[in-house]
Amino acid sequence: MPDAPSADVAARSAPPPRPPGAAAARRPRPPRQRGTDLEPVRSKTHIRRRTLTWIGLNSMGAAAVLALVRFFWPRALFEPPTTFSVGYPGDYGFGVDSRWQAKYGIWVCRDAEKLYVILAVCTHLGCTPDWLSSANKFKCPCHGSGYDSEGVNFEGPAPRPMDRCKVWLAPDGQLMVDKLVLFSHDKWDDPDAYVA
Ligand code: FES
Repeated sequence: MPDAPSADVAARSAPPPRPPGAAAARRPRPPRQRGTDLEPVRSKTHIRRRTLTWIGLNSMGAAAVLALVRFFWPRALFEPPTTFSVGYPGDYGFGVDSRWQAKYGIWVCRDAEKLYVILAVCTHLGCTPDWLSSANKFKCPCHGSGYDSEGVNFEGPAPRPMDRCKVWLAPDGQLMVDKLVLFSHDKWDDPDAYVA
């Protein structure tokens, strides 16, 4: 007798009997939930991989933008001028003065009669020789060519003396040099190749 009420309740909550041949009634779906509650829990490895992927993609994007900017950026070469002043003749004593070698690639030389300017370019393959005051000669570090204090080759593979630059006195008395006007050995007597 104590089971009678629960059997009654079960009979009331049970679905009504399905007619033969009828499809089973579908259970209603629970309402779709939004938010992160239902997102699958991601493992640390997965998160790290995603982070690395994003970093990689962003880096590639930044590199592409930089390459684009670099491509369209105007390319200007800032080279030293080819015509310039090297001060006054009184600034130079006898012999070879190498103060402008690094900046302009020249040596200013003076002897008893004139002042002239040697272009610091080896006539073998174009290296820059050094002035060795202790040996009183120019020495090319590339293949060993040697030039005397006037720039005349005397050892090594250099085929000829070094060239001299055009030099003149400006109205204010300063020495001007033009590296684009050069005088080879057979033209050293040209009045533009020295200042008396
Ligand atoms: S470039 Fe000067 S010796 Fe070769």
